[in-house]
Amino acid sequence: MKGNIVVGQSGGPTAVINSSVAGVYAQAKKLGVNKVYGMVHGIEGFLEDQLCDLDEYLSDPAGIERLKRTPSAFLGSCRFKMPKIEGNEEIYEKIFSIMEKHDIECLFYCGGNDSMDTVKMLSDYAAAHGKSQRFVGVPKTIDNDLPITDHCPGYGSAAKYIATSMKEIIRDNESFGAKKPTIVIVEIMGRNAGWLTAAAALSKDDDCAGPDAIFLPERDFDMDKFMAKVKELAVSKSSVVIAVSEGVHDANGTYVCEMGREVAVDAFGHKQMSGTAAMLAEKIAAEIGYKTRAIEFSTLQRAAAHIASLTDINEAFQVGADAVKAAERGETAMMITLDRNGDDPYQCGTSAHDIHDIANVERKVPDEWITADGMGLNENYEKYARPLIMGELIPLFINGVPGHLVRK
Ligand code: F6P
Repeated sequence: MKGNIVVGQSGGPTAVINSSVAGVYAQAKKLGVNKVYGMVHGIEGFLEDQLCDLDEYLSDPAGIERLKRTPSAFLGSCRFKMPKIEGNEEIYEKIFSIMEKHDIECLFYCGGNDSMDTVKMLSDYAAAHGKSQRFVGVPKTIDNDLPITDHCPGYGSAAKYIATSMKEIIRDNESFGAKKPTIVIVEIMGRNAGWLTAAAALSKDDDCAGPDAIFLPERDFDMDKFMAKVKELAVSKSSVVIAVSEGVHDANGTYVCEMGREVAVDAFGHKQMSGTAAMLAEKIAAEIGYKTRAIEFSTLQRAAAHIASLTDINEAFQVGADAVKAAERGETAMMITLDRNGDDPYQCGTSAHDIHDIANVERKVPDEWITADGMGLNENYEKYARPLIMGELIPLFINGVPGHLVRK
C-alpha cells in the first residue's frame, strides 16, 4: 500500500471495538503503511478534519495490549447519517478532499448497520465519480444483527457480561426464600433483534436454573400473557427473574417502553429505548402487589471489558487486520465477515463480502431457536452462542481497577 490509511469508529460502542482498531493498525504497519490515522468521532469528526496519528499510542506493543483491554470507542464515536448523494455532493467532496490532503488511500469503518451504510454511500460515490480510494467495513455491534456474518464482534463480550450478571442476580434473588417472591425484571439492549436478550439463557448450568422467562422482540409482546406468566411463576417459586429486551413491542409495533410516554429519536430515526423493565415492574407491583426490582443493564453491558470474551477480543482484532489485507488486495465496498467452520472444536475464519448485501439489513434470532411458548431459547441457540463467550483476558489492573488507554 503506497498511501496512508484512516480508521474510524461509529455507533454504540462495545467492549472490543478498540481491539479492531489495534488489528487495523498492527496489520497496516506489517505492510509498511506510513501513517495510520484515527478519525476522532467517526465520519462526523473526519468532516472537520479531526484526525490523530495512531503511532503516538500504538507504536509500543504495550499500547496495543492496553487498547485491547479498553472498552468504548478510543477514537470517539458518532451517530451520523450520510445524506443521499444527489443534492449533497459537497459533503462527499469534502470527505474525499480531506482524504486527498492526507494522502489517504483506504478508509476502514468499524460499526453496525448504520455505519455500514456510511461505507456503502462512500464507496458508491467513489465508483460513480471515478475516485480511487477504497472503503472497507469492520463489523462491530453488541446487537449481533448484521447479516451474512456468522456473528458480530462485540456480541460475545456483551453476552458474557449478561450471562454472568443474570447468574449473579438469580443467586442474589433466591437467597431470601420469602413466601412472596421478589419479581426481578432485567432489561437488555438490542433494539429490534433479540440476540443479546437471548444471552440471558447462557446463565443456565448445573449450578443455576437460568431466568424464568425471556421475552425477545422477535415475538409480539402480549401484556396479558406476560402478567399471567408472572402470576403463575409467583405462586410456585420463591424467586422470579425475567429477561426482557428493550425492544419488546405489541402487535401494533408500539414498544413497551413508549407506552404512556414520549421517547426521543436519533439521527437514524431509532427510538431511544429505555424504561421497559421499570414500566413492567411498576405494573406488577401495582396490579399484583409483589415486591419488584427493575434492572436495566444499559451501558454496563457494552462497556464491561473486565469480563470480555477472549474469543471476541481475538476475532475483533482479526476482522480489523483482515480488512487491511482485503484493501491491500484492492477490494472496496466490502465488509469483513466471520465465517464459522465448525462447532466442536469451534473454528471461525473471515472473508470479505459486498457491502450492498449488508448495509441497512437487520438479522433476527431464527424463529426455530425460540421455544414454542415464545418465552425461551432452545439448544440451537446455546450451540451457536456458547463458543462466542469463551476465554478471558485479564485486565491490567492499576490501583485496584482496570487501566485503559486514553486519547490525549
Ligand atoms: O446499536 C447498539 C446499541 O447499543 C443498541 O443496542 C441500543 O439500543 C443503542 O445502541 C443505544 O444507543 P445510545 O447509546 O445512542 O442510546
